[in-house]
This record gives sequence, C-alpha cells and structure tokens, in this order.
Amino acid sequence: MSTSAGRRIDEEANTSWRQRSELEKMADLPQSLDDELSRLDKQFWISGSKLKEIVSRFREELEEGLTKDKQEGIPMNITWVHNLPSGKEKGTILTIDLGGTNLRVCKVDLHGDEGGKEGDGKHSMEQEQYKLPEEMKTGDADSLWNFVTEKVAAFIQDHKLDQQYSVEKPMPLGFTFSYPATQKRIDHAVLQTWTKGFDIKGVEGQDAAKQLREKLQERKLPVELICVINDTVGAMVASTYNDPETIVGAIFGTGCNAAFMASLSRIGKLDSNDDRITDASSHNGATKGEEKMAINCEYGAFDQAKRVLPLTKYDEQIDAESPRPGEQTFEKLSAGLYLGEIFRLILVDLLDRSLVFSQASDQGLQKLREPYSIDTGFLSQIEDDESPKFTKTRELFHSTLSIQPTDVEIELSRRLAEMIAVRGARLCACGVAAICTMESIEKGHVAADGSVANKHPKFKRRWAKALGEVLGWKEKDCGGDGPITITSAEDGSGVGCAIIGAMELERRAKTKTH
Ligand code: BGC
Repeated sequence: MSTSAGRRIDEEANTSWRQRSELEKMADLPQSLDDELSRLDKQFWISGSKLKEIVSRFREELEEGLTKDKQEGIPMNITWVHNLPSGKEKGTILTIDLGGTNLRVCKVDLHGDEGGKEGDGKHSMEQEQYKLPEEMKTGDADSLWNFVTEKVAAFIQDHKLDQQYSVEKPMPLGFTFSYPATQKRIDHAVLQTWTKGFDIKGVEGQDAAKQLREKLQERKLPVELICVINDTVGAMVASTYNDPETIVGAIFGTGCNAAFMASLSRIGKLDSNDDRITDASSHNGATKGEEKMAINCEYGAFDQAKRVLPLTKYDEQIDAESPRPGEQTFEKLSAGLYLGEIFRLILVDLLDRSLVFSQASDQGLQKLREPYSIDTGFLSQIEDDESPKFTKTRELFHSTLSIQPTDVEIELSRRLAEMIAVRGARLCACGVAAICTMESIEKGHVAADGSVANKHPKFKRRWAKALGEVLGWKEKDCGGDGPITITSAEDGSGVGCAIIGAMELERRAKTKTH
C-alpha cells in the first residue's frame, strides 16, 4: 500500500465485523474468541479504498501482459479466437473438458438459426462424465492422455459415432483445457504451469494438443483435434451465442479467471503483419483497426510479486504447501479450491491455541487436520443455513468432520465463513473491474460459471457491491442491477467449445477456397 493511501482514513476500514455482518447472532462469544475474530477481520476485510488500489495494480499487470511476451504476473494469453459467434454457427462437434474432478465428453449439434430456434433449441447434446482418478492429478503425461483417449474411445463406441466417422473422414474434436497455455495456433497449447493443485509430470512446457493428438492417432480414433480453448473463452463465446451483451466470460470456481475480446491494436506483443492475423481478419469481415482477439487473461496469476494483495499467514501457508509455491497468488485467495482450506487452517490455528473444540473426539480432530478436508461447499452451506438453531450446520460438521460443535463454535464458524467468502467475492470483482476500466467498458453482462458463482448463496450480490464500489456506482446500482451485471454463463466447455470448433472449420473452409 502506498503511504498516502495507507494514511487515508477510510471509514469502512474502521467499522467492525459486527457492524458489517449480515448474519443473525447465534451465541455470545467469549472475550478470547471475540478478540480473535476482530484480529482476523482486520486481516481479511478489504475496504473500498484497498479495492481501488488492487484494481489499479491489476490494470497495470493486464496492460503489461498485453505488451510483453514473457513476464512475471498475468500472462494475457492469445487464443486465436478472432470473433464472437453470429448465432448461425452449425455443425456437429465432439468436445472434451478436462476439469478439476471430471472429464466430460459431449457430442454437440449446433443448429444455428435454423427454423428460428432460440435459446437452448439452438443446440442439442449428448454427454458423459468420467471421474478423474485422484492419483492421476500427480501422475504422468502418459497416464493422463491414456485416460482421456480411453474415455473418448468409450464415448465414440457407446454413441455409435464410429458408424458415421472414420480416420479418413474424422469427427472434429474441441478440447477445453483450463490451465494457462500459450498458443501459436488454435490447435496448439503449450502448458505454462499446472494450477488448481494438478501436478502431472511431463506436460509443462509441452504442447498438450500434440500429446493428446498422438495418443488419439495411436488408437486410430476417428477424430481430429481442431481447437484447444480455455473455459473462460468458452463461457464468453457460448453466452454471446444467445446474449450479445456479453462482455466478459469469467470462471469463479475451483480456479478463477476471465476472458474478453481485445482490439488487436492494443495487443502490443502481437505482430500485426503476422500471417495468422491477416489471414483470420480477412476472413471474418473485420475492417482494419477493428479486428479483435479473445484474450485469456489467466489473472489467477495476479500479484505474483506480492506487491498489493493483503496476504494473511493462512494464505502464505496454503501457498507454501501447494505444488507450485509462489504461483497463482490471486487465485489462492479467491478461488473455490482454497476458501475451505483457509477456513480449516484458521480453525486448526485456534485449536492449537486451545481456543476451540476442547470437547471434540480425536477422530474429528484428526479429520480437521487433514489438508483440504473442508471444501468451499461447506462454507456455502454454513452461510445458507437458516434452520432453527442452525441444525444443518451441526449436521454438516458431524457428517464431514465427525465433530459435534458447541453453540459458540457454530457462531464462530458462521462468522469465519462469512469473512472468508466476503473477501473472496470482493477480490473476484477486482479482476473484472480492471478489465472494464482498461477497456472503457461501462455496461454489459459478465457471463460467469463455476461452483462459487453458481452455488454460493451470496457471492453474486457481494461481487456486484464491490464492483460498484470500485467503479463508483450509485448505491442503488450496487445491489446486482448495476450497468455491469453477472449472468449465468451458458455451457462454455460443451457448447462454447463446439461453437469455436465450428468457427474454426468455417475459417479453414474459407482459407481453402481463397
Ligand atoms: C486456470 C485457468 C482457468 C481457471 C478456471 C485457473 O486455475 O489457470 O486456465 O480458466 O482456473 O477454471
């Protein structure tokens, strides 16, 4: 924090968690815990002025990422998605999505605007989900791609796709690979680093598309990998297909990130004479100066240099114990994978200082000491609990941790869950605020997906309030109906990926005829 900003008296910063909390009180806390909460609140509360300071640095990193190729911080990856869909895209595409827990395979039929079909009628889909074996996340490239290929083969067989497609006449395949990757073309993706706790050997620094393509060819599957996309770009594209007011595609889930369409002239690191650009632009009808490119920000990497984010000792611990310490600093404070873990680390800290769970069983305490034994859903359910005497929260502690909490422990947990989730939502608003200020976007829809956006009961409202504070909206606009609103994204990794695949096929067809 700069000294002048540090000295500024910020009224909000002086309010206590008690004044800010939206929660009903369940029990009085003993003085020792009340003091702890005040101490924690000082570390976790991000005031309006601090938000603005974060957004200003965020914007600098976004701009640096657009101009410099290799830099510390936000990479701003070029995606080779040159235009948003017209809504008329048609075709049948196979898509795969390598998520944090599952591999999803879909056959997507895009109907375009045929017969005036609107909304979901514009596409139909068949899909299967396969659980990723836990050990694969720390295994090697071979087992990863063998697993993916095996499931694609099973899908092809189960859905009788081998009767329509062959190695000579393959089915187009799109791949949603939601990790930071640099792309020389749309069907190429060199993994920069694994995120979200993945640690698979032999993929970083390599072209993931090539590795997968080789495996698919080895098995002689009747598919051709034509595009690799990020989930944020998929969310933006799928949502624009139905909602032209979409300005950003964002994921607030296990990881966090966003994509937007940047003007080519602003992407300093791109050579405007590059054949790949002139070729694409000449086919999408954009006139010189108007050409765009989807940028996958990868802003989970924000503030790697730790200049502005207010890190607590719990954040430092999560980072130190993660497979990639020093990376994804912003993501580790705000994304779903980590919120439950922050909560757990605070409880363990209080336990170590004999402030909580003196009556809990050894079995319960053992579970509590297990890393990542509490997920973000746990926090959402605590904040969502309106049952008398918070019986649902009691049951949750019992079923997840075999702990029977006291009234005071329930009260404490509710306050902590709120504190952590509020910080996460306010930080999530910073990324979008930085994109909008950089691009002078004043209104539109942020198409969001991910477990935090969709399942946390208060996330959207908190996010909108923080966005309004940063962008200086009138109070009435900060409740969720402001000029920039969050909408639920359409299925980015299925429909979005298929649309991008269809656009790529169209581009290839045009290139051939020229
Ligand atoms: C990844 C991004 C992804 C985000 C949301 C991050 O960890 O690096 O590529 O978009 O998670 O899934």
